[in-house]
Amino acid sequence: MQHPSRLIVGITGATGSIFGVRLLQMLHGSGVETHLVVSKWGARTLTHETQFALKDVQGLATHSYAIGDQGAAISSGSFVTPGMVIAPCSMRTVAAIAHGLGDNLIHRAADVILKERRKLVLVVRESPLNEIHLENMLKLARMGVVILPTVPAFYNNPQNLDDMINHVAMRVIDQFDIHLDVMNRWDGVLLDQKRASADKDIGASHGRDG
Ligand SMILES: Cc1cc2nc3c(=O)[nH]c(=O)nc-3n(C[C@H](O)[C@H](O)[C@H](O)COP(=O)(O)O)c2cc1C
Repeated sequence: MQHPSRLIVGITGATGSIFGVRLLQMLHGSGVETHLVVSKWGARTLTHETQFALKDVQGLATHSYAIGDQGAAISSGSFVTPGMVIAPCSMRTVAAIAHGLGDNLIHRAADVILKERRKLVLVVRESPLNEIHLENMLKLARMGVVILPTVPAFYNNPQNLDDMINHVAMRVIDQFDIHLDVMNRWDGVLLDQKRASADKDIGASHGRDG
């Protein structure tokens, strides 16, 4: 895939709007244009869960569109982009995309991405999952959609919530072949091996000095 010059970013009403904000923060100034749409409940959860006002988040994007603006540029396949990410992605939005509904700009833009055979990444968040959620996600996964839940990793030894958010956001951006090394990646070495090797080095240098 070519380095994408522009991505569509959707933020919907699942908990975890900070994931969408962090993506925009990471992409801001990276040379990638971001085209943002926030759903009504995306905006409500954003102000409930974070210190950000909607306009601050819109200010991080290159362009932002109203959720009801079905005539926006991103509503057409002639808007050239390698793909779209929805973070966080609610089960309602998963259902709307899985069933081809285009009744808001996020659903429509995602539908266009699918018809143009471009890349769609859904940073889904719900727990537990019922059969409807799972069936909808399986249907989309079989069409090539990347289902990337907001599940944190622990192998990189996160020190705080920010580390966990950054790691998920970095893995989402990786999906578009943009590799921002904002967090440690798995290097195949377990922490106890690293400690043992550091202890050995210290021992060796003490031996040398003393
Ligand atoms: C605080 C809050 C947290 C929510 N968390 C989730 C969630 O994690 N996953 C989900 O699918 N829906 C969640 N919802 C429900 C969605 O916001 C609701 O289904 C909404 O209609 C989604 O619409 P949208 O996809 O257009 O944003 C939450 C709602 C609120 C108010």
